[in-house]
Amino acid sequence: MSATPKPEETVRRLTVVDIGKLYADGTRIPMLTAYDYPTAQILDEAGIPMLLVGDSLGQVVLGYATTVQVTMPEMVHHTKAVVRGTKRALIVADMPFLSYATPDEATENAGIFLREAGAQAVKVEGGVRTARVIETLVRAGIPVMGHIGLTPQSINTAGKIRVQGKTREQAQSLIADALAVQEAGAFSMVLELVPEQLAAAVTERLHVPTIGIGAGAGCSGQVQIITDLIGLGDFIPKHARPYVRIREQIRGAATAYASDVAAGTFPGPAETGSRGPVDRAGRALERHPGQVHRQPARRCLGAEQYVGQCRSRLRTGVPGDQHRIGQLQDRTQLQRTPGHHDDDQRLPQGGELPQQLELTDREIGGRQAPVLTAGSLTPWTSWRQGFLVGIGNPKAALFFLAFFPQFIHPEAGPAWAQVLVLGAVIIAIGTVLDVSYGVFGGLVRARMARRSSRGARRGRIAVGLTYIGLGGLTAATGHRAA
Ligand code: KIV
Repeated sequence: MSATPKPEETVRRLTVVDIGKLYADGTRIPMLTAYDYPTAQILDEAGIPMLLVGDSLGQVVLGYATTVQVTMPEMVHHTKAVVRGTKRALIVADMPFLSYATPDEATENAGIFLREAGAQAVKVEGGVRTARVIETLVRAGIPVMGHIGLTPQSINTAGKIRVQGKTREQAQSLIADALAVQEAGAFSMVLELVPEQLAAAVTERLHVPTIGIGAGAGCSGQVQIITDLIGLGDFIPKHARPYVRIREQIRGAATAYASDVAAGTFPGPAETGSRGPVDRAGRALERHPGQVHRQPARRCLGAEQYVGQCRSRLRTGVPGDQHRIGQLQDRTQLQRTPGHHDDDQRLPQGGELPQQLELTDREIGGRQAPVLTAGSLTPWTSWRQGFLVGIGNPKAALFFLAFFPQFIHPEAGPAWAQVLVLGAVIIAIGTVLDVSYGVFGGLVRARMARRSSRGARRGRIAVGLTYIGLGGLTAATGHRAA
């Protein structure tokens, strides 16, 4: 049996029997810790046969000083996530400090790991002193992994973390621990921080696999803490090998993200998606903050979509949405009720909403973008479009062909140089005018956007009426009014 499943094999959960087969075949067993769903998924996909939801969780994920602070509910919570993320790996749940002080407590808590959390085995620290607990669990049908050598839950009695088994007495007591754990029925055991030769000697004497961490290459397998393997933690022990430096990568990504947000380049068109209106190039267009979505032709959310959005925003704590969800769910329910014919209550599917359910941009989380504005074009797009219009417009060419010769004086130098100078002057004047116009327009727009949507609407009506007035004047007088 290989550690990595072949594609054609149907995936099934490994058992301690499979781990025993790997050991019998002489396969060195790779084990990793996992504490969360996505990491567990990745490690399972990578074919790691055994995952340990270690109580190292306390230090490397929860920020505790020692593993002594880790509780059963925390371990169960994380074990469930790891189980959900895996299909094949055998999941070993670490029994936290004081959760196995007596055989009865051990059985009850180990039962929770197997029954509620879905683990296939548990791990307990201690050799001779824990043998009775291991025996009880194994008799109850709970596979147990032992853990000897350095046992971090004993930090308060051991005083500090150091290599175990350095003296003859310590080495003998380690061998006694290993044999006691094996005799008690453990299917395997972790050897932590043990000198290499001693770990190899222990491994030689056993008929169950030893899984080493800081115990050299002579063990039957190895276990590493996942955050050490990927370089996520702020400290990496000497016995670990970080295969990637994810901490730096995350820091780099976060810094880049923060500067993109500050520069307004995130979210960009790609991240804004197709839910709002787009320009001709398919780029999302800007919305007016506070704009009320009144027209059916403009996009309104279907109630179910809206409830979904509110739900996800509730997780980030947008006030007032809870109430709104309630209202909308009631309405959705009404719409689903067979025989319900109250038109006022009926919700359209993703089309127009009844007046009282119209949503402002703020309410829909700024994701819908119903109003097209020139200001939403990027500077590059604006320039490119302007350039293409200018160069492709024969009127402009004719205008300048007729216009420029009047200003060319043959005695003042070569005509091409004068054309270039004139062109530069025209471009400079045009740039000043266009920039002023753009800045002024932007200021007016921002001012209008700051006001209520009613104010913005009034502004648009005023502009429209002015044009209609000018048109009327032209028609009445036969002269251009402006
Ligand atoms: O808690 C843990 O991650 C462990 C490993 C060090 C084996 O016990």
